[in-house]
Amino acid sequence: MRTPSGVALSLAVLLWVHESHAAPETQSSAPPPSPLPSGVSAVLWKLSVPASAAPTPERVALGEKLFNDKRLSLDDSTSCATCHDPNKGFTDGKPVAEGVKGQKGMRNSPTVLNALFNASQFWDGRSSTLEDQAKLPILNPIEMAMPSPEAVVTKLRGIPEYVTAFQAVFKRDITYDDLASAIAAFERTQFSGNARFDRFIHGETNALNASERRGWALFNGKARCNSCHAGNAVSPLFSDQKFHNIGVAAHKQDFPQLAREGVKVVRLGDERQIDELALQTRFSELGRFLVTKQENDVGAFKTPTLRNVGITGPYMHDGSLTTLWDVMDHYNKGGVANPYLDGGMQRLGLTEPEIDDLVAFVFTLTDERFTKFNGQELARQRARKGQRPERDTAVALGKKGNLGDLAPNPDLSVKNPADIGVYGTETLPKPASTKQP
Ligand code: HEC
Ligand code: HEC
Repeated sequence: MRTPSGVALSLAVLLWVHESHAAPETQSSAPPPSPLPSGVSAVLWKLSVPASAAPTPERVALGEKLFNDKRLSLDDSTSCATCHDPNKGFTDGKPVAEGVKGQKGMRNSPTVLNALFNASQFWDGRSSTLEDQAKLPILNPIEMAMPSPEAVVTKLRGIPEYVTAFQAVFKRDITYDDLASAIAAFERTQFSGNARFDRFIHGETNALNASERRGWALFNGKARCNSCHAGNAVSPLFSDQKFHNIGVAAHKQDFPQLAREGVKVVRLGDERQIDELALQTRFSELGRFLVTKQENDVGAFKTPTLRNVGITGPYMHDGSLTTLWDVMDHYNKGGVANPYLDGGMQRLGLTEPEIDDLVAFVFTLTDERFTKFNGQELARQRARKGQRPERDTAVALGKKGNLGDLAPNPDLSVKNPADIGVYGTETLPKPASTKQP
């Protein structure tokens, strides 16, 4: 990677700001903590942390306490840290999250590391800020299950240490908004860089071995990962912050049918309903579509950061891929075909040694404070290399199926991808006149 010229850089930054951050331009930003670890961009920090949300030490301390406090849940069993365990890279190591009474949701717990830089929160981007995000799991019936914001506030007002702490930090009685601000302040201190890759890209060539360097070349070349997970000065998280259908959920169901049903149940603009649909129902698999109701968002999920991904498995929004070898197998065969598959997905023709190089590279994106854990995960995943449920070498190498350069024509007699719910002709409201006798 070469550093882009000053002009190209500022242009790219401007575009990026324009696309993903609606923060008012007049709002000045908080000064970034210094020094920031290598790989964590001060520019991105300034864009992501408005002055009004600056993580002051008092707010952070209160937020950290709340993040780890099981009393924020109905039966005192579950805290944010239950699913985002700081010792496990702020994830839980499970395919899907488990909340109060062992209830399982539909989605995998993403890491909170670097979440402060996300242009939107959740796999489908349904919250735009950390504050909005924090309010939802506390109220979700299968996560922390508190019945209402008022109930949370009443419970906290019964705990003298919180009455004192909120008074000291916010100078007023406890409110649900202030609780969210404190948790968000804590999350804004959870940035993570300092990966072996960062030393490499800053000129320490030997920080990566030959296999890992080949992996980086494949990542930006034959394997096409950089088209969505580019890693460079303006994309330090290895995510384009956009939403794509890469075919993870496609093998499980008939998307057009699900979308047709989905549009009928979604109430417009109701964040809590979308949260429940996403975590508790099969409509979860519609992904970004639940938020935008745009047909091209069916089955699309947010491109996740690849930083620390070595320690945050299992993978994908539904935790359905166990190892990074499974992830490479998925991409190598071009994902799973479905009418909404992203145009950037096609078979890659990667050989087994190339897959090993790519996996080796991805493991270099982990913060060096987790080096031991990262090594253990690499060993654990490598031990499973014999089990490869997603591998389809014939398709990946073009000996079977679609060769990739030209997409196949959809079979319109089976289903027309354009024909879904209110957007198709089927369920358009009948003209008033036809209802008259
Ligand atoms: C029962 C497990 C569970 C609990 C408890 C929980 N989360 Fe999560 N968290 C998840 C899952 C699962 C997702 C992804 C859900 C989705 O995208 O639909 C998520 C998403 C997030 C995200 C978005 C990250 C990203 O990359 O988009 C943040 C931030 C977060 N949680 C913080 C919190 C905070 C703060 C709390 C406590 C107030 C909390 N979580 C409680 C499981 C949990
Ligand atoms: C068309 C855009 C696109 C391309 C190309 C792409 N990805 Fe992804 N990647 C995504 C999206 C979107 C997800 C989440 C999908 C989901 O959960 O349904 C994802 C998920 C992942 C995950 C899981 C991360 C986690 O926290 O669960 C890994 C690892 C990953 N990609 C690595 C790669 C690698 C390596 C390549 C190249 C071989 C690649 N990606 C190519 C868009 C892309």
